Amino acid sequence: MKRSELNEIIREGEKFIASFGFKLPEFATWSPDDWKRNRHRAAEVIRARLGWDITDFGRGDFENLGLLLFTVRNGSADNLKTGKGMVYAEKIMISRENQVTPFHTHKVKTEDIIVRGGAPLEVRLYNGEPGKGIDDNAPVKVRMDGIDHEVPAGGVVQIHPGSSITLEPGHVHSFWAAGGDCLVGEVSTVNDDETDNYFLDMVSRFPDVEEDEPPYRLIVPDYAKL
Ligand SMILES: [Fe+2]
Repeated sequence: MKRSELNEIIREGEKFIASFGFKLPEFATWSPDDWKRNRHRAAEVIRARLGWDITDFGRGDFENLGLLLFTVRNGSADNLKTGKGMVYAEKIMISRENQVTPFHTHKVKTEDIIVRGGAPLEVRLYNGEPGKGIDDNAPVKVRMDGIDHEVPAGGVVQIHPGSSITLEPGHVHSFWAAGGDCLVGEVSTVNDDETDNYFLDMVSRFPDVEEDEPPYRLIVPDYAKL
């Protein structure tokens, strides 16, 4: 993706997030120079890969296949192993109208996908295991705001503002916003986007960036260069 495109997506995202009164932490507004100056203080922010994250899933068609994310907090694999400390993570995301996040599941992470505001989010569901594809027969048992539901294989559930769905390992899911853009929250167990996303089709999770202008904000993969 071009840096100018990433910059524009973040500028629009900031406005959209602010329109709901949702506030982001201080480092959300750091310039690249602020990051350089604060890189020691912010060691944990960098380790936990907090902050802006944009993906077009390697397809070069962000409008139709993509997601803007901001990771607000995230523990570590070590926390999960010991069951102590920050065993959780939180993200805020923008799924644009008809902008698809492709089918995937997780081996470790259970995630609540929460519609914080805007248009409803539609989620298509199958049962499936990483590397073993989907089961296109068995109905999917899933909990939404603590209530048990059963959805036919490949069925779509609509989640309205204030509501959520709990996606557990083995829930293969794809989602998009319907009828407008959607502000999506995620509360989950520790998040590792390098190892715990199992997509049905090969995708690349982080973009190769073509530097056609200076970065407005850094995105998570930029931290490696700090
Ligand atoms: Fe997911």
